[in-house]
Amino acid sequence: MFYLYLPGQQDLYTRLFKEALPDWHIAVWPEEVNTEAVTHIAAWKPVEGFFSHFPNLQVVFALGAGVDRFVHRPDLPEHVTLIRLTDAGMAQQMTEYCLYGLLHYQRQMDRYQQLQHQQTWQPLETRLAKHTRVTILGLGKLGMSVAENLARLGYQVTGWSRNPRQSDLVRCVHGCETLDTLLPETDVLFSVLPATTETRYLLDATRLALLPKDSAIINAGRGSLIDQQALLALLNHDHFRFVLLDVFEQEPLDKTHPFWSHPKVLMTPHVAADTIPEEAVEQVAANVRALSNGLPVTGKVDRSQGY
Ligand code: NAP
Ligand code: GLV
Repeated sequence: MFYLYLPGQQDLYTRLFKEALPDWHIAVWPEEVNTEAVTHIAAWKPVEGFFSHFPNLQVVFALGAGVDRFVHRPDLPEHVTLIRLTDAGMAQQMTEYCLYGLLHYQRQMDRYQQLQHQQTWQPLETRLAKHTRVTILGLGKLGMSVAENLARLGYQVTGWSRNPRQSDLVRCVHGCETLDTLLPETDVLFSVLPATTETRYLLDATRLALLPKDSAIINAGRGSLIDQQALLALLNHDHFRFVLLDVFEQEPLDKTHPFWSHPKVLMTPHVAADTIPEEAVEQVAANVRALSNGLPVTGKVDRSQGY
């Protein structure tokens, strides 16, 4: 049996899964089922302990790209295969999100907004895409797509990953040592890194300060990447032009947090790249068929590396 845990979207997902996997018995939480019959689960943000009800569980499909809420769960034993979404329509959305922030910086919309408030008609110096240095942290399914799309638009793009990656369009560098030399050469930093023990506070006070004065940060990966207190201190010292944040250490962000009203913070509520139900279900169904035929799947998570 295939069990779905997608609170708030049960009806849509039940219909899509029934259409995509007509031979399967599809049930949806909180429907009571014979828990021993459940072998496959598709879920997003499952509550703690949820998986422990299913003794014969074989496969869990995370209906998102990031698996930080899945990898280290005590209720998800190692023998259960964990599969995430790969792209499934998210890469295009990530490109749009990054481009929005990048254009805000390059076309100086923040500065023109200030001038508008001062009723000042003052053209600023033109800055071309080819003179704008963009660093992309994370060159996976999403990061590489964003990096190559921006390079096609003429930006100077460097991508950073853990292992060596290759692209005909983007300069690719890897490893922790290169990061400290890359940051001072960056005008706009875009992160689409997963949350792992290695990426936690990767941008701490020291690394944040390596970014040049008047640079910008766009974070659409996970909030744990950035030491928010250190970021706030640097913003208060006018170190950055602005930051565009989609993800936070705590979500929703506490109502008392200074980011809400900070003039140099643009923020969105974790919406940079949404799961598109039709594409997600199509990808899950293709993987279910591949598994039953002993074929390779896309998006199998290596839990030891955490993403
Ligand atoms: P992915 O294909 O697994 O790519 C992850 C990339 O991060 C890889 O290039 C990987 O390096 C790199 N990386 C991981 N740990 C690293 C480290 N310690 N140092 C340097 N590079 C490291 O994942 P994806 O599908 O592109 O998704 C990326 C993340 O985006 C997700 O995990 C999720 O957190 C986030 N996301 C956010 C939203 C949103 O709406 N805000 C939506 C979707 C996804 P290697 O290439 O060397 O493995
Ligand atoms: C959303 O944040 C995702 O990881 O898919």
